[in-house]
This record gives sequence, C-alpha cells and structure tokens, in this order.
Amino acid sequence: MTKRLVIISGASRGLGLALAQEFIDANTTLVNIARNNNAELAAMCQQAGATWHSIQADLAHTSGAELASQQLAALLAQYSDATQLYLINNAGTVAPMAQAHQLQDPKAIAQALQLNVGSLISLTSCFLAHTPAHADRRILNISSGAGRSAVPGWGVYGATKAAVDYFTQTLAVEHPQVRSVALAPGVVDTDMQATIRQTDDTHFPNRERFINLHQNQQLASATYTAEQIARYLTNDDFGQKTIDDIRHYF
Ligand SMILES: NC(=O)c1ccc[n+]([C@@H]2O[C@H](COP(=O)([O-])OP(=O)(O)OC[C@H]3O[C@@H](n4cnc5c(N)ncnc54)[C@H](OP(=O)(O)O)[C@@H]3O)[C@@H](O)[C@H]2O)c1
Repeated sequence: MTKRLVIISGASRGLGLALAQEFIDANTTLVNIARNNNAELAAMCQQAGATWHSIQADLAHTSGAELASQQLAALLAQYSDATQLYLINNAGTVAPMAQAHQLQDPKAIAQALQLNVGSLISLTSCFLAHTPAHADRRILNISSGAGRSAVPGWGVYGATKAAVDYFTQTLAVEHPQVRSVALAPGVVDTDMQATIRQTDDTHFPNRERFINLHQNQQLASATYTAEQIARYLTNDDFGQKTIDDIRHYF
C-alpha cells in the first residue's frame, strides 16, 4: 500500500494550510514547517486518521532553517518506508516591499532572502539526502509571476522568486529522478494579499491594481488554488515542465 509523506513549509495558514487540507487521508503523514502550529488542522488530521507533525521554526534565520532540517531529517528516518514523498516549499514573505532607493534595511532584505530562498534550499537538500532514491519523490517550489516579470516595489521579492526558479531548474538537471517544479500560484486571497493592499503607493506603485482585484472579487481563493495545485502535483505528468504557472490549468 502507498504510504505518503507530504511536507509543507508554511502550512499554518494561507495557501500552505489549504494545500495541507487537500492531502488529509489515512495513508498520509503531513508535516508542517512554520513558526506556528495549526491546532485545527492537527485535529482534522486526527479525525481523518492522518498523521500530523509540526516543526516549529523561524525559517527567516539560518538557525531556524538548521533546526528545521535536523527535525525533518529525524522524521524522514522515521518514515523510511514511505513510497511517495512530496516536499512543498511554500513558506514565504513579500516583505520588504519598497523600491530600490528605499531598501535601507539590510536585516529585512537578508531575512527575505533566507526565508524565500535559503531555507528552501536547506529543506530541499535535507529532503534529497534523507529520502530513498527508489521512492516517488516530488518537489514543488511555490514561486511567483513576480520572479518572471519586473514589478516596481517587488525588487527583493521578485529576486527571491527568480532565484527559486533558477534553483529548481538546477535541481531538475542535477536530480532528474526527483521531479521538481517551480510553480506560480496566481493571485491568491491570503494574508500576503492584505499586506500588499496595505503598503503605501510610494513603496508599491501598483497597489491600486491589487485593491481593485480584491474589490472585484478577482482573487482566487486559497481553497480553489490548492485544489488545482494538489491535482497538478499528483498528476503523472508532474515534473515535465520545470517552470510553470497553475493559471494555465484553471
Ligand atoms: N498570495 C498570493 O497572491 C501569492 C502570489 C504568488 C506567490 N505566492 C507565494 O505563495 C506562498 C504562500 O503565500 P501565502 O499567500 O499563503 O502567504 P501567507 O498567507 O502570508 O502565509 C505565509 C506562510 O509562510 C509561513 N512563514 C512566514 N514567515 C515565516 C518564517 N519566518 N518562518 C517560517 N514560516 C514562515 C507562515 O507561517 P507562520 O506565520 O506560522 O510562520 C505562513 O504559513 C509564498 O511563497 C508566496 O510567495 C503567493
């Protein structure tokens, strides 16, 4: 019988939480990696007979990524009989939102790079080192359209997502037996969008566009997006296109 392990960074809320909900079943062990657990999700898993683990770590710091990798390695050893192993690198931040001349806080820049790129690389490396080569191994890196075309105010965010795309392309050539994709999820109604709408126009000149998308109910719900992403991830074709956008499949 297939035993599935699904590891999701940032499953405590937003898109990651909706993704976790897609994988709850009695054959699945779910692992959240974020600063916070989600007790409701843990209870849902228990009710459905799924196993739930939460690794609480601040991935914006190298020490947090190190701690998370150590705990993940221990869990992977515990579930060495899993035949399907999915790593969804989803945790991320859009901060700091500012144009180049306003990016005066090196700490905020470093934390964004560490969370969006550094921790993703660490968790991926841990996953590759501690999972068996014969298993069905899939890595889904949640990227963004922001890494593929320039948006004023998203210099840091876009740079991190372009790096995610590049790293994923490298993974695909280095480890062709592991299926890897960098996927843009579209514009999703989460806390991240609320942050975008709250940022002032001098830092983010495109703010109005996102306010309009929200007012006109043109943001995709996290649940709908997660449904599409879960179907995409479990499809036999997964990994054929390394850089992709889920909106192509809506
Ligand atoms: N929403 C969109 O429109 C959109 C568009 C394109 C791409 N994306 C991408 O989709 C992914 C999910 O975004 P979202 O919209 O769901 O964002 P969100 O609602 O802000 O959720 C972010 C998730 O990341 C975790 N996280 C944040 N900072 C962390 C830290 N320092 N250490 C560990 N975990 C941390 C959060 O958990 P804790 O707070 O518990 O730590 C939370 O679970 C991100 O990679 C984002 O770039 C989103």
